[in-house]
Amino acid sequence: MRSVIYSRIKGTGSYLPEKVLTNLDLEKMVDTTDQWITERTGIRQRHVAAENETTCDIAEKASRHAIAAAGLEPADIDLIIVATTTPDRIFPSTACLLQERLGIRGPAAFDVQAVCTGFVYALSIADKFIRTGSARNVLVVGAETLSRILDWSDRSTCVLFGDGAGAVVLEASEEMGIISSNLHADGRYKELLTVPHGISQGFDQLKESGGFIRMQGSEVFKVAVNTLGRLVDEALADNNLSQSDIDWLVPHQANIRIIQATAKKLKMPMDKVIVTVEKHGNTSAASVPLALDVAVRDGRIKRGETLLLEAFGGGFTWGSVLLKY
Ligand code: UT7
Repeated sequence: MRSVIYSRIKGTGSYLPEKVLTNLDLEKMVDTTDQWITERTGIRQRHVAAENETTCDIAEKASRHAIAAAGLEPADIDLIIVATTTPDRIFPSTACLLQERLGIRGPAAFDVQAVCTGFVYALSIADKFIRTGSARNVLVVGAETLSRILDWSDRSTCVLFGDGAGAVVLEASEEMGIISSNLHADGRYKELLTVPHGISQGFDQLKESGGFIRMQGSEVFKVAVNTLGRLVDEALADNNLSQSDIDWLVPHQANIRIIQATAKKLKMPMDKVIVTVEKHGNTSAASVPLALDVAVRDGRIKRGETLLLEAFGGGFTWGSVLLKY
């Protein structure tokens, strides 16, 4: 009888661009204060890619760390999925560019676009490839250079986001790994968080938007808090688990107040929640794998523990992955 195949995280990695932009730096750029940003978002600093540094550049660094942590070589990878909203080019996909950089030839490589939920979507897709026997060692990356689509004169958005990349290698294993995942989207919210121009729609909107992120922050906030509460209930109910079965919450890092509300719903003390928003800001698809890598490397997250990864973003999209690390 064929045993059950799970997808298990074999290694994690991340990379942050060298340049750090603090709230005090932003005070000199727009009409804001360190106090406002810290109190309303929990963010104190974010990393910003160098002028010639692309999403693929930082994805490559995070990927090499994850592959090394997994004890593998790039040639062992048989599928690459990159979650990003800020690809290097319209095409080829950043996953194809990354494949070439890593010296891998042949296996499938594609991007996933689900904005801040992108990594959770990509992890869930990778899990399905592994469970059906289509792949054995999958590189799943979340990488963003959001600084390129920020209006640096708009204080309501430019203080929130940052650049970075996180990656995991998922392997086919008989040991339990990903237990379940839940993905959702509701396109009716498309105008609340968007970069409103595009290739097919044309560039008419470009004059108005400048090609930058536009967000109705407090509206997004309300939907995010309610939706993430439901998402957590759904993940537990699907698996007949209770809040106390979760060892670590690894949430999308958009705003400390949203994270605290989700932790409260889970009745989880904040010392069981991985928080990086203070140092990274909102790095969209990179935020969950970055937070995961930080907590794996500093020894908080240990083998055999149960993690709940969750995210919410433009679309709206939202989703969770429950797993044994
Ligand atoms: O990752 C994808 C999902 N994204 C999110 O989850 C983001 C969700 N939204 C949020 O995190 C919050 O809504 C924000 C942090 C964006 C804003 O916080 P808020 O408590 O909802 O503030 P607000 O938008 O209601 O604005 C309150 C005030 C306004 O002034 P008035 O109208 O009360 O005079 C803003 O103009 O704060 C003002 N404001 C600022 N003041 C200083 C907005 N941005 C700034 C700023 N510095 N950077």
